[in-house]
Amino acid sequence: MRLEQVLFSQGFGTRHECRGLISLGRVTFDGELIDDPDAEVVPEGKVFTVDGNQWPYFEKALIALHKPAGYECSQKPSFHPSVMTLLPAPLRVRGMQPIGRLDEDTTGLLLFTDDGALQHRLIHPKRHVAKVYEVTCKHPVNQQTCDKLLAGVRLVDESVDVKAQACELTGPSSIRMTITTGKYHQVKRMLAAAGNRVDALHRSAFGKFVMPQELRVGQWMWLNGRQDVLG
Ligand code: URA
Repeated sequence: MRLEQVLFSQGFGTRHECRGLISLGRVTFDGELIDDPDAEVVPEGKVFTVDGNQWPYFEKALIALHKPAGYECSQKPSFHPSVMTLLPAPLRVRGMQPIGRLDEDTTGLLLFTDDGALQHRLIHPKRHVAKVYEVTCKHPVNQQTCDKLLAGVRLVDESVDVKAQACELTGPSSIRMTITTGKYHQVKRMLAAAGNRVDALHRSAFGKFVMPQELRVGQWMWLNGRQDVLG
């Protein structure tokens, strides 16, 4: 692959801009400065730098973001900035998209990819990928609350009950709940159907991937090579 194509595929601008970056000596590949945009390289498993910043090459990328409150997942946000603004430009330019959505006031684990097949696999309802939420409730909760959510509750405007796959008490007014479907505002609506109300919502895991403590609010990390843990 030509070095120009490598940069282009990783989101560093138009082909013309990528050629410019390379010609100006701003790019190293596998530890070597290369100023010929047409130089042939084998990018898999290699790291390049642009202006000293390191980038591993991935044909398709997968990342995890610790979403702060106050950001919208929608492409055209109406009232708050988009989660896309939390990603560096090359990730936006290469077309990373959130895998599913979190509400503006929900915090925690949000995955992004530019791999359409992976995106489809992870949000497909038939796959039943588990999502774990730490739920802070307005009113006290007890085992009966969990039992209700596990048995299934009827959401407004739905014709069948939805069940939590797992539910445990984590405090006098907090629970950890796992769901395998992704209906609109599902956790908030389930708690409302169980006679309570969500005060704060945080996603702590997706599939078998538990968000690491070191990933601070607003930060992101590569998840390439870890697709297996997602489900
Ligand atoms: N369920 C909700 O109600 N909101 C979210 O952000 C995610 C799941």
